[in-house]
Amino acid sequence: MAKLRFEDQCLPVQPGESVLQTLLRSGTQVPHSCHRGLCHTCVLISPDPVPEHARESLTPLQRQQGAFLACCCYPEGDLRIHRPDTNGRQQARVTGKRLLNNNVVELSLEVRCRWRAGQNIILWRHKNLGRPYSIASDPARDGLIKLHIKRHAFGEVSRWVFDQVKQGDFLEVGTPEGHFYYDTDYSDAPLLLVGNGTGLAPLFGILQDALQNNHSGRIDLYAAAAKSDELYLVEELRKLRATYPQFRYHPVVTSGEALLEEGKQQDDLASLIRDRHRELRQTLIYLCGSASMIEAVSKTCFFNGAKRSHIMTDAFVSQESASSHSP
Ligand code: FES
Repeated sequence: MAKLRFEDQCLPVQPGESVLQTLLRSGTQVPHSCHRGLCHTCVLISPDPVPEHARESLTPLQRQQGAFLACCCYPEGDLRIHRPDTNGRQQARVTGKRLLNNNVVELSLEVRCRWRAGQNIILWRHKNLGRPYSIASDPARDGLIKLHIKRHAFGEVSRWVFDQVKQGDFLEVGTPEGHFYYDTDYSDAPLLLVGNGTGLAPLFGILQDALQNNHSGRIDLYAAAAKSDELYLVEELRKLRATYPQFRYHPVVTSGEALLEEGKQQDDLASLIRDRHRELRQTLIYLCGSASMIEAVSKTCFFNGAKRSHIMTDAFVSQESASSHSP
């Protein structure tokens, strides 16, 4: 049976257990969120070899430093592990907070670091409690990191942001990471951006980045919500549609509603994409939102000719049901 050596403890790993499960079972407080290798809040360090699967989504620098994801690491031998130092964390000043709808707030943060719109950043409430969010703003346009945070009934981070965080506060954030962002090499390719819920956040950032870079290909953005009043940034997106002829905005409501305002459709995203985008061979596709939506729309895009390498995905599940990444 493999053992973990962690902060003066020697912890036996039960069969089939990940490093994270062993630590939590023993009552050790370590940051975690999704348990699925998506959010990167559970990064730990080991000088010993760890299974490749636990490191494959990390950057070369992180790998060089011995970092691995505790939730994806099923040890094959004894491991010495420790927490990463907190140098990767930095202070961010809250410069604004505004409601986007009844359940989503936009938090604007002033930070001293580089980022790309669409990347993730971890927002730390305290040393062991953080949640990753997608960046909805383009540095060249805004100069501020903007996050769309949905309030969850039992959300320790989202309720804190809604109820306690205020303008002028200093918060701790991680280093922006991930590859979900606009690629300037494809500035004349059609772009298809599809999201549900706060999956709109990184897509809104990517859209602004593309427009900022004079993207000349057609851009279709589908933003879905269960009900009309859960859609947000509708006016901003309509204005962009009126300003940029290559941009088309499609608000979509996915539950039954008798009356829809002009311009909103009622359907499921996969059916809409299947029927309206029958030729996707040259299209670059960005999908963000629930795992089920992403799976359905990815399949549709693939059947309509999209190359797998042209389908970028960023899935999230509800944070507060013991889960993952919050766009
Ligand atoms: S990546 Fe391990 S808890 Fe999210």
